[in-house]
Amino acid sequence: MTQHQRLLIIDFGSQVTQLIARRLRELNVYCEIHPFNKVDDAFLAAFAPRAVIFSGGPASVFAEGAPMPPAGVFTLGVPILGICYGQQVMMHLLGGKVERGHGTAEFGRAFVTPANRALGLLEGWFSEGREQVWMSHGDHVSRLAPGFEVFGTSPNAPFAITADEARRFYAVQFHPEVHHTPQGAKLYENFVRLAGFTGDWTMGAYRADAIAKIRAQVGDAKVICGLSGGVDSSVAAVLIHEAIGDQLTCVFVDHGLLRQGEAEQVVAMFRDHYNMPLIHADETELFLGALDGVSDPEVKRKTIGRLFIDVFQKHAHAVGGARFLAQGTLYPDVIESVSFSGGPSVTIKSHHNVGGLPEKMGLKLVEPLRELFKDEVRALGRELGLPASFIGRHPFPGPGLAIRCPGEITREKLAILRRADAVFIDQIRRHGLYDEIWQAFVAILPVRTVGVMGDGRTYDFACALRAVTSVDGMTADYYPFSHEFLGGTATRIINEVPGINRVTYDITSKPPGTIEWE
Ligand code: XMP
Repeated sequence: MTQHQRLLIIDFGSQVTQLIARRLRELNVYCEIHPFNKVDDAFLAAFAPRAVIFSGGPASVFAEGAPMPPAGVFTLGVPILGICYGQQVMMHLLGGKVERGHGTAEFGRAFVTPANRALGLLEGWFSEGREQVWMSHGDHVSRLAPGFEVFGTSPNAPFAITADEARRFYAVQFHPEVHHTPQGAKLYENFVRLAGFTGDWTMGAYRADAIAKIRAQVGDAKVICGLSGGVDSSVAAVLIHEAIGDQLTCVFVDHGLLRQGEAEQVVAMFRDHYNMPLIHADETELFLGALDGVSDPEVKRKTIGRLFIDVFQKHAHAVGGARFLAQGTLYPDVIESVSFSGGPSVTIKSHHNVGGLPEKMGLKLVEPLRELFKDEVRALGRELGLPASFIGRHPFPGPGLAIRCPGEITREKLAILRRADAVFIDQIRRHGLYDEIWQAFVAILPVRTVGVMGDGRTYDFACALRAVTSVDGMTADYYPFSHEFLGGTATRIINEVPGINRVTYDITSKPPGTIEWE
């Protein structure tokens, strides 16, 4: 099995530590984030990093129990890059001096100018004399540790960029990982080059590794996989199928709350195209029966979640003798984050709609995407030959159309909603906007309004269009469609979808709204 060159990011609790990993992965460098309190000398020896990065963090090196790396990190003989708090830690531990903020705190944009001597870390920087960087620090370095020199300064940070070239220790006061440091990616590129990384973290290599790992883990046992039709579970299923063929059975729970044509597409893709053993569990009656008369959003979610597990379990049992459950868990779900509210904490989410099931059924987990970020999963999907239209699909929530149908769910409303949603998505595709939008859908409102069509009065449902831009679904902004697009879409929906006579556009951002209506 290939062993990738590895970079270790020691996390001191910065809000943007994950971005460091993103920048490195973009450079085909394999890295892992580990909280400072989990990294000791034994860990370092086992991890064998080719380079180490100290993240930023909200603490002060003067605080009692201030987060520190193990002393052994400085004698590994590998390059180290300290960022913000990471810089202060380096100076503090290596014999320099850090002082408290008191008027020198700096937040936001700053401009760094170079010192007289060039530094490999800064290759490609300062072509226009200065570089914009993003600062966010309270304390600051007031005296460099022995061996360090200054290579860049800003008006409020005389030690903005520092380095001990002999030891390949680099320390910067700003955050090169954020977009407000436009040349930050270049700095990471130089750092990994200086550390001798060859860019061996490619999707082709990952695929081969992952397949070997799955085979080694599973042996000749059977695996079941809950397929939702979303990108993560689809990529996981295709990868596992490539590794172990028909030892894998996929269970696709159809709760009757899917979009138009969705179940057919999933079946066509996985059963017909990939030839996977696929159980299409059409449980529409069960779910819609249980949701009859339910209008409270939380009750809807809980009902769907509970039934989902029951149904999945029933079909998983039917497969007979499965010992493993496959899940599309991603790296952001497993990163242990440093929390300063209640001490270092572990926030590992129980993922997907089958939480608790592995223990209950005595199944072990197969999670071949655990090391990947979302866009890397998409890249792996492309590598595996999944169609672009599938990989680029907007997210779709587990509870499906139930949470796009505020109030009571009826079959009539679901049918209308499916048609309206299909028209909206078709409009978006026709205008070439699908890939610019993070998520788009229609919600059917629990209200009928009066309209006039032809010579007659209508009394039909109103609907809301929702389309947002977002990076991770945590925050979102409404998409700025042209009035022409909105008008054209409203006309099409009202003409093509019996049951709707009024169309509105939801222009709420998140926060304060959520993306879904429930
Ligand atoms: P909200 O509505 O909370 O949604 O702004 C953020 C993102 O998460 C999706 N979402 C879900 N996905 N199960 C899921 O798998 C759920 O219960 C669920 N609720 C919301 C939502 O579609 C959006 O992408």
